[in-house]
Amino acid sequence: DEMTRSELIQYLKDTVKPEEGLIPSYIFSHPKVYELEMEKIFLKDWLFIAHKSEIPNKGDFVTRELGGQSVIVTHGADGEIRVLLNVCTHRGMKLCRMDNGNQKNFTCPYHGFNFKNTGELIGIPFQKVVYGDTMDKSTMGLKEIRHDVYADLIFATLDDDAVSLDEFLGDIKWYLDLAFNRAEMEVVGLPQKWNVDGTWKLGSDNTISDSYHTLVSHGSIAKLGLVPTGDYSKYGYQIYTGNGHGLNLGMPNPDGFAFPENLINEYKERLHEDQYDILKQMKNMIVCVSPNIMILISSMELKGQQVSHTSLRIWKPTGPDSMEISAWVLVEKDAPEEWKRLSEQANTLTFGSSGIFEQDDTENFTDITQNSKSPYHLQENIVYNYTMGMHQEPVENFVGPGIVYKDKFNEANSRAFFRNWLDQITAE
Ligand code: FES
Ligand code: FE
Repeated sequence: DEMTRSELIQYLKDTVKPEEGLIPSYIFSHPKVYELEMEKIFLKDWLFIAHKSEIPNKGDFVTRELGGQSVIVTHGADGEIRVLLNVCTHRGMKLCRMDNGNQKNFTCPYHGFNFKNTGELIGIPFQKVVYGDTMDKSTMGLKEIRHDVYADLIFATLDDDAVSLDEFLGDIKWYLDLAFNRAEMEVVGLPQKWNVDGTWKLGSDNTISDSYHTLVSHGSIAKLGLVPTGDYSKYGYQIYTGNGHGLNLGMPNPDGFAFPENLINEYKERLHEDQYDILKQMKNMIVCVSPNIMILISSMELKGQQVSHTSLRIWKPTGPDSMEISAWVLVEKDAPEEWKRLSEQANTLTFGSSGIFEQDDTENFTDITQNSKSPYHLQENIVYNYTMGMHQEPVENFVGPGIVYKDKFNEANSRAFFRNWLDQITAE
């Protein structure tokens, strides 16, 4: 508790040793570590805030959160997308208290300042009476936050000096294309949200590396006959593309093509042939975009056919030992209606808030986080073992970019994720 910030940074450097596969327990809930994460990761990184299809028309908006700050993502009257601070410039009231809607203007609930959906301040009640000629409304617009778009995913950053989104994503874009550029995609309904008493990092850690837990954590699902038994989750590739981003690619799919057949020509046109070749064989793909996005394509049999489902979620930190999950389901816009319904159903059954996989996973995150809160863990420096797969060498002949292992039972991606995390939170 008496540690200064620079002592803490030194302690982190001394005790977190990703290359040796040593990750100490205290990082999963320590309030001081959380403070560093907020400041050095969540106030700086590019974070996902919305999919373009959520705000297709002029006036559409959604409210989201970025580094603990509420923002309004608007499709302005001028056709531009903007990310605006949801903070009235008069006295700081939260301007918009709805999750989504369509509005030309936002009127502040405190004193009634009125802002256009482009952020401009256009009206002040009794302006002449209360300000005379002294108020220049043009200096009082809502603060605009830097944003950029890749594959219809809208990202924003609170750091004006951050590298471009393109550079931040780097080679993970090649794999994001499989999820979001294979066809025109649209979000189904509103994101589902739920709270978990576990740290966001365990979500990302599980996403980027952990196919191994499927055997045991999700063992009951295999017993029900809904997924194969045995080590099916081992086969495929574990890939790291830099900046904390990586994925597990499950292939081949013994059950055949899991995407709508009527879109095959569109897939071929929009993807590189190597990407299309992977899509053809894909059983599943689980991508972590650092710090806290999980993208999942998975497939199952429903009504006698292989149906894939595509989703995106964020593990949003709400405290040192808790998070809120927001999860979006996406479908091909031009898929048959019946197929879209099956795809959504497949997602609900497996990874929706009450999905059979989902409940297994969050139990693990909760118990690990709660364990780590005991002061005993810090006192004894209890450390976990992340050495799996250290005896393996990456393969050279994979068609996509990244450091590639031909085996998903590996913790190489977690080691790389925690190295990136440590470098970020200990940066000067
Ligand atoms: Fe918004 Fe005063 S705080 S009008
Ligand atoms: Fe899982």
